[in-house]
Amino acid sequence: MPLPTIEWEGDVNGRIRLIDQTVLPTELKFVYCEDIKSIWHAIKTLMVRGAPAIGIAGAMGVVLGVKDIQGESAETFLKELKQVTAYLAASRPTAVNLFWGLARMERIAQENLNKSVLEIKEALLQEALRIQNDDKIICRQIGENGVGFIKDGNGILTHCNAGGLATADYGTALAVLFKAKEQGKHIKVYADETRPLLQGARLTAWELVHAGIDVTLICDNMAGHVMKLGKVQCVIVGADRIAANGDTANKIGTYSVSILAKEHGIPFYVAAPVSTFDLSIKSGDEIPIEERSPEEITSGFGKRTAPEGVKVFNPAFDVTPARNITAIITEKGIIHNPSRENIQCLLGASGR
Ligand code: MRU
Repeated sequence: MPLPTIEWEGDVNGRIRLIDQTVLPTELKFVYCEDIKSIWHAIKTLMVRGAPAIGIAGAMGVVLGVKDIQGESAETFLKELKQVTAYLAASRPTAVNLFWGLARMERIAQENLNKSVLEIKEALLQEALRIQNDDKIICRQIGENGVGFIKDGNGILTHCNAGGLATADYGTALAVLFKAKEQGKHIKVYADETRPLLQGARLTAWELVHAGIDVTLICDNMAGHVMKLGKVQCVIVGADRIAANGDTANKIGTYSVSILAKEHGIPFYVAAPVSTFDLSIKSGDEIPIEERSPEEITSGFGKRTAPEGVKVFNPAFDVTPARNITAIITEKGIIHNPSRENIQCLLGASGR
């Protein structure tokens, strides 16, 4: 059954309903965002998270942000809309889908500037819903395109959560696994717990258990051992931003997993929609890496696990170099041995 990760309720004056991902797996709770501040907070605190889901949340957030703009001129509307998008863009820096979604919303406003304010708001809501609905189709296509990499009996390792919760419903990396299961393939998934916020333990394990997929939870530092034991035939992860040369930012720890996979001769796949590519940047060195609060490491989930005053470094993402990636699976097809040339060959120079 599709996951109602994020939904819009009502007309242009409506609200966003989302699954609060911070309290899973013990509680399945919905949160309602009626104004721009509450959706900014939901993105920032990871109530809604995962690159495609953040893109949808940002787009819907724009609809919330323009709610109170009344009968002003088109120019004033556009000026206020830009303030709204700038505010939402400041919530999280790494996943490019957020900026991609906000840019789409700005473009729609520009295209409808000759209309009434109500009509512009309606066009914006329709665009946000289109982004959400397109993502559902894109995720299914990623599943179709990637499933050929999964053989009956395979062990597959994944890191973080690139499932239905991170998208409009079916996931990217997990879409490939859901599809393999639908095709009757017997698979065994190893889910890294994904310190410090445990998206693997709390979200991926939860999704896979519910889908009836054989999943085994491991701590992040067990991945190498599990590979050495011959239990993993491929790794598949999602992405937050892919540079023009194929370097890929994803949840912190992904880079280490890619090195482990290389050492053990295990293929390493990235599954991501085209909206996750950022061809404006040459390499992964230019990807902004979010740093989060030290408390996520020193007192995660309310329990102090480090001494007061200790220094902490808490980057939320890292960059896997293209040379460690066997292929990138997109809705448009597969990019083998990702490089500038191979990416352009599938996506064209603009990447959209
Ligand atoms: O900090 P998060 O939970 O938003 O990080 C999410 C990830 O790193 C995912 O792997 C990525 O966004 C892909 S989601 C399809």
